[in-house]
Amino acid sequence: MAATPETVRRLLAKGLNLHVEEGAGEAAGYADADFAAAGAVLLANADDLWGNSDAVLCVNPPGPESLGQLKPGALLAGLLSPYGATPLVEALNNRQVSALALELLPRISRAQSMDVLSSQANIAGYKAVLVAAAALDRYVPMLMTAAGTIQPARALVLGAGVAGLQALATARRLGAVVYVTDVRAAAKEQVESLGGRFVSPPEKEELPAESGGYAQAATEAFLAAQRQQLAEQLALADMVICTAQVPGRRAPLLIDEAMLDVMRPGSVVVDLAVAQGGNCAGTQPGTTVLRKGVQLIGGDGLPSSVANHASALYARNIAALIEHVVATANAEPQPKGGPQSFCLDLDDPIVAGCLLTHGGECRRPDVVSGVKS
Ligand code: NAI
Repeated sequence: MAATPETVRRLLAKGLNLHVEEGAGEAAGYADADFAAAGAVLLANADDLWGNSDAVLCVNPPGPESLGQLKPGALLAGLLSPYGATPLVEALNNRQVSALALELLPRISRAQSMDVLSSQANIAGYKAVLVAAAALDRYVPMLMTAAGTIQPARALVLGAGVAGLQALATARRLGAVVYVTDVRAAAKEQVESLGGRFVSPPEKEELPAESGGYAQAATEAFLAAQRQQLAEQLALADMVICTAQVPGRRAPLLIDEAMLDVMRPGSVVVDLAVAQGGNCAGTQPGTTVLRKGVQLIGGDGLPSSVANHASALYARNIAALIEHVVATANAEPQPKGGPQSFCLDLDDPIVAGCLLTHGGECRRPDVVSGVKS
């Protein structure tokens, strides 16, 4: 949900009028009555929203039909999956929509309150461990019982970004011994500060470059060396949480079929990178594959299984962005037809970073056409 009663109040205080589709918040635990009490106008038919709104706040990109109804010059903000999104960009440009793709928000301190990728990755990392623990055929913590001692489960986390660090913290709270690997130099200290054991990347190959806090794509030789190194860890792991990603690229393949063969039957892999091609061979979006006794769980969409808090955080992120847009709005309208009520400051680093289309032009051709497999 891109708005909650709390953020409706926040945005109303900035002078905006909010319209919410009836029933839109139900699945996430936000009732129509609470939206109405917060001051939102409820609309029975979402079609009335598309053509009449100066701004549309969404979670995923709207379908072509809805996009075609958008008012020329309207603002659209949400997770728009901008990498390689040529048809979407064409549709947005046809309607002269100013589209803010939250995936492209710069990772700077000022933008932290708007950082949807972080808030949702945090939830995904947390839930991935709970899903793995529930599927595992063993206890997670060490237990000393009258029937003898149970050793703690061993978790392996691939990627120590936002999701990976939350997976580490959650697995530690459950009592697991947690090993974590990443290719960014800063990750080691972060992992160790949370009680994890860092598995350093292979030394004989050059580390992938880093840009804006993100790892860049690794060479095939580097990935091969990494897989060789991780095979030993996999043979010992009870649960593996895959979070390694490179923006706009296929996720690095860190577990191949041969490596899966050495895993203990009963162990579990949760692949959060599955929608980007997966860190683990054989994982599939939204489903569990049983492979020689190892459960391979496609972990896409986990934030929506924590819908209430996922929405609360997403809505706060997006409200912070809209407040910023309003606060930085130019007094003079943009020459290329920005929306009347949202005269974007195109020089603002936050707006410029995530502005995908504006005035009929693609502002981030690097992202739209630069995607590689
Ligand atoms: P992400 O989702 O793009 O990737 C997850 C992790 O996978 C990253 O840590 C990346 O280094 C790692 N990875 C990529 N290729 C790998 C490989 N071959 N093997 C192992 N690991 C691999 O990244 P995420 O979680 O969105 O953020 C990455 C970093 O961005 C954070 O750790 C932090 O430094 C920075 N950040 C900064 C923020 C800010 O300043 N506002 C907010 C959030 C994150």
